[in-house]
Amino acid sequence: MRVLVGVTGGVAAYKAAEIIRILVESGHEVRAVPTANALRFIGVATLESLTHNSVHSELYSDVEDVRHVEMAKWADLILVAPATASFLARTVSGLADDLLGNVVLATKAPLVLAPAMHTEMWQNKATVSNVAKLRERGIRVIEPAVGRLTGSDSGIGRLPDPSYIVQSALSNLVPKDLAGKNVLIIAGGTRENIDPVRFIGNRSSGKQGIALAEEAVARGAMVELVAANFSYYSPEIETTEVVSTSELISTLEHRESNFDFVIMPAAVADYRVEHPSENKIKKGAAGEELVLTLVENPDVISLLSKRLRIANPKVVIVGFAAETASETALIDLAKGKLIRKELDMVVANEVSATLGFDRDSNEVVLVGPDFEHTVSGTKRAIAKAIFDTINR
Ligand code: CTP
Repeated sequence: MRVLVGVTGGVAAYKAAEIIRILVESGHEVRAVPTANALRFIGVATLESLTHNSVHSELYSDVEDVRHVEMAKWADLILVAPATASFLARTVSGLADDLLGNVVLATKAPLVLAPAMHTEMWQNKATVSNVAKLRERGIRVIEPAVGRLTGSDSGIGRLPDPSYIVQSALSNLVPKDLAGKNVLIIAGGTRENIDPVRFIGNRSSGKQGIALAEEAVARGAMVELVAANFSYYSPEIETTEVVSTSELISTLEHRESNFDFVIMPAAVADYRVEHPSENKIKKGAAGEELVLTLVENPDVISLLSKRLRIANPKVVIVGFAAETASETALIDLAKGKLIRKELDMVVANEVSATLGFDRDSNEVVLVGPDFEHTVSGTKRAIAKAIFDTINR
């Protein structure tokens, strides 16, 4: 895809370099158009070396090329990051007093703006009204993040993470085939306390769950994420953090039950310590051998499947099965789980010290009652294949 990155004059302009780098590395063709003020914060050389294209900000140089019209037609997507309060105001008014303003006014490509400014400026009535007008016109304005601002202050107004901006901007072009659907993702790994400082845990990172949540949001779904022992923030995803399996169960019990899709890549501890110690277990007191009695945890997805199917018989429930087994054994084990846990699909993957957990890519088999598809690629590509399979 051809992405034109506009950069306006705020301190966060330096983050445009990372945004461009991510876009280029993901295979997109990128051109950058900084405003004159942006060039006070980031250099032409940086933008040219990252985009591998020449960079102009002047409307009146090489006028014979009618550059603004050529660029406006070239772009499949225009992303302005950071977008200052002044740029938002100029765009609302259709002011075209520099190259970027002209390109934005002349283009038919989707426009995504990522504002960054101080909290007071973001909350000023003028900005609030400008953002509302831009959104009414179908321009996507990414909500700024909350965090440290340029000075010693913190609040809303920070430019979100470059990877979030890229994913959010590209999602603008994805078909919204999950619009109106409610999706619940349960991810990460539960931990069971041994004492206040030790636990029994597992190596699940939550990355597949994040990829699923982001894919679902990009396709227009309302998404709730239950995150066992990892943190994730997105203004568009309601996230609840849990630690133990019993906390996971009680969180799910208090959830609405009107989900269309429930996907559970979580690694749930099959056993918990029967009597966790209230105080730290001292080596001196335990001696040479420490014996812990473990008791079985309930099967969360089976409980959930029974309850949700009463509320919505059409709900689609997807479990995961991480196994240290050959491919044929993997599929048989997945089919067993499909029936035993009353699931609609099991995503089976082979795990070892080098495969599966905490990786960005994976190879899985999507196993349903009458199909088996092998999918490999990034966790996002796997998330896409899962939704393509279940959303029919
Ligand atoms: N699961 C669950 N509750 C448990 C254990 C697992 O909800 N107590 C869910 C997992 O989130 C996953 C699916 O069930 O979606 C399969 O998990 P897995 O650990 O592969 O299955 P187990 O039932 O634990 O079987 P085994 O340990 O024998 O492989």
